[in-house]
Amino acid sequence: MSLRTRIATIVATVVAVFVLLGAAGLAFMYSGVYDVSASSRDIPIVAKLLHGTYEASLHRHAGADVAPGDLLSFENIRAGARMYDASCALCHGAPDRPLSAVGQGIQPAAPSLLSASRRNKPELMFWTIKHGVNMTAMPSFGKTQSDEALWQVAAFIFAERGVSKDKYDLLVHGDDQVGSTAVSLKSPTPQTGKD
Ligand code: HEC
Repeated sequence: MSLRTRIATIVATVVAVFVLLGAAGLAFMYSGVYDVSASSRDIPIVAKLLHGTYEASLHRHAGADVAPGDLLSFENIRAGARMYDASCALCHGAPDRPLSAVGQGIQPAAPSLLSASRRNKPELMFWTIKHGVNMTAMPSFGKTQSDEALWQVAAFIFAERGVSKDKYDLLVHGDDQVGSTAVSLKSPTPQTGKD
């Protein structure tokens, strides 16, 4: 066999293998064998592939956005708490509250962002909150919210890991005066109104 014929055979074999793999993939897809229901957990290999892809993507893409200098101010944390309660708690949970029907129904389930063992590095979490996570229920909030609002909610989940129900409720519902004294975070001197 000449060198030319040999190369032609190798190329033809490689092409044939790819065509066969593609056909097998399509056959698998259209056969409907794969169970897409969200009522049971993903099989471990799929869960690992999805989560591993997310983690690698996060570490590659996140970190370019610069956090505001006053990231952890009381005002930011409280505004973030309010946004969290309105838009995130249904999936990510809130202290001592049963998870919503949405949160219980999604697969993969959302992590408990307020549990004490979380790290929630703001620069990383900001990216996820802004862009969302494809193929999961995590929405892209950058489509509708300002970066400022997203940094605030990132500040809240970072500063308040392990938050108690009482403090959570105060941050979300307390008025300015009650909130700033009760949560003992740095905040501007309260106005006395007597000067
Ligand atoms: C409809 C459900 C849903 C809502 C609403 C939602 N999330 Fe998520 N979120 C998820 C899911 C599911 C994941 C896990 C994605 C995965 O498996 O990679 C996630 C992941 C995240 C992560 C990444 C955690 C990590 O360990 O890397 C952050 C941060 C986050 N969400 C923040 C928020 C914030 C802040 C809000 C509200 C502004 C919010 N999410 C609203 C479902 C939701």
